Amino acid sequence: MSSIKWNNRYQTTTDMPSPCHVVAAYTHLLPANGTALDLACGLGANALLLARHGLETHAWDYAQTALERLQRDAETQQVQIHTQIRDVLIEPPSPATFDVIVVCHFLYRNLAPTLIQALKPKGLLFYQTFTRTCVSNCGPKNPDFRLKDNELLRLFSDLQIVVYREEGYIGEITEGFRDEALLIAQKS
Ligand SMILES: C[S@@+](CC[C@H](N)C(=O)[O-])C[C@H]1O[C@@H](n2cnc3c(N)ncnc32)[C@H](O)[C@@H]1O
Repeated sequence: MSSIKWNNRYQTTTDMPSPCHVVAAYTHLLPANGTALDLACGLGANALLLARHGLETHAWDYAQTALERLQRDAETQQVQIHTQIRDVLIEPPSPATFDVIVVCHFLYRNLAPTLIQALKPKGLLFYQTFTRTCVSNCGPKNPDFRLKDNELLRLFSDLQIVVYREEGYIGEITEGFRDEALLIAQKS
């Protein structure tokens, strides 16, 4: 989808998404201070959580309407977030700039080596997005924008895996963490 379409979507939606499970359920793994990036942040629920946690938080997206709403929410919550309208494929993060990088519901595979480089030593990557193996209709229809089985593990095999979760069709499919995979990994 283009930035125009995303801008239109954010203009019409009033919903505020919750922080993603990969961040909300594992906040105890976040450092007490340092720099964090929410890449392709959308309305920035993850960025708000990172900022509330005390991290110097940057939030990048190419949809201006989303970032304007995020700035208003940050003011309401009395936290500071450095928002930037930025096409992250054209201007990805620079090497060794962040202690924490969060990527949720955004998949551009060629960016993986750049994200690894952008972490500072001991930096943590929090990644969560949709899988092709799914039990509901949510998420993108185009399989290119969905992960293959165990794909996050392969994309980030140069990092030390801290947490990985992907439940596929196993067991009681109405329960658990379905339709998505999540990974937390550290740069050694
Ligand atoms: C599905 S939304 C996810 C938003 C947020 N990360 C979340 O999980 O709620 C995907 C976001 O990626 C942004 N996006 C897509 N391509 C982008 C690009 N090349 N540069 C920056 N942002 C991009 C869109 O504007 C949109 O906000």
